[in-house]
Amino acid sequence: MKLILLGAPGAGKGTQAEIICQHLNIPAISTGNIIREALNSGTEMGLKAKSYMDSGKLVPDEVVINIIKERLAQDDCKNGFILDGFPRTIAQAEALDRMGIEIDRVIDIEVPDEKITERLSGRRVCGECGASYHLLYKKPQVEGVCDKCRGALVQRKDDQPQTILERLAVYHDQTEPLKGYYEKKGKLFIVEGQEEVADTTKLTLAALED
Ligand code: AP5
Repeated sequence: MKLILLGAPGAGKGTQAEIICQHLNIPAISTGNIIREALNSGTEMGLKAKSYMDSGKLVPDEVVINIIKERLAQDDCKNGFILDGFPRTIAQAEALDRMGIEIDRVIDIEVPDEKITERLSGRRVCGECGASYHLLYKKPQVEGVCDKCRGALVQRKDDQPQTILERLAVYHDQTEPLKGYYEKKGKLFIVEGQEEVADTTKLTLAALED
């Protein structure tokens, strides 16, 4: 299955991608994670992307399109994949079409802006492996410590209140139009994000089977 997860920042795309990836045994590809890894390793691309990411703006289309082209050419994508955070503009969606990739489904996770702010300001991520937690909704076993690798949990720079507002504005302006783009193609499935991760997961898995 070739799947796209759409939704506002903090709607729960990464959380659902991780679950579906195990369920369907296909890789979850997050452009955000790929860019953060490049940034941590100090590559040229990572350094270029830093100012955009830190301020909540989108990294230029040509940079992310190249990232996706290279990643989808890898062997583990042959039987399908989940795109988490790509495409984010109409230009990126058109580039994906030009790659000749036939997407099966686009799942849009809908969460109101007020909830997004609560979710993102309470999110903590592992500085070592990137695993994601929440101060209220997904607590680690030991406060401040990653369950998976024992790394220290930190707040993402772009999860500061002002940057969250900028990310939401960018989402409504540049990414939300993708709903219409995929609806016209008959690929769009809407999932209403729930209070509990497990409840959202039930709806997401049902949308895969419809
Ligand atoms: P990226 O890393 O993709 O961030 P994002 O889309 O802004 O999404 P997030 O990872 O913040 O949220 P999410 O929807 O995955 O939510 P999560 O599951 O973590 O991108 C970062 C930046 O990189 C961009 O701003 C841009 O600069 C750049 N970039 C990336 N891709 C790009 C592209 N294609 N083009 C251009 N630039 C690009 O959940 C959030 C929190 O809520 C967690 O704490 C989680 O535990 C909690 N939670 C999840 N589900 C629930 C639930 N049901 N109930 C309660 N809490 C929940």
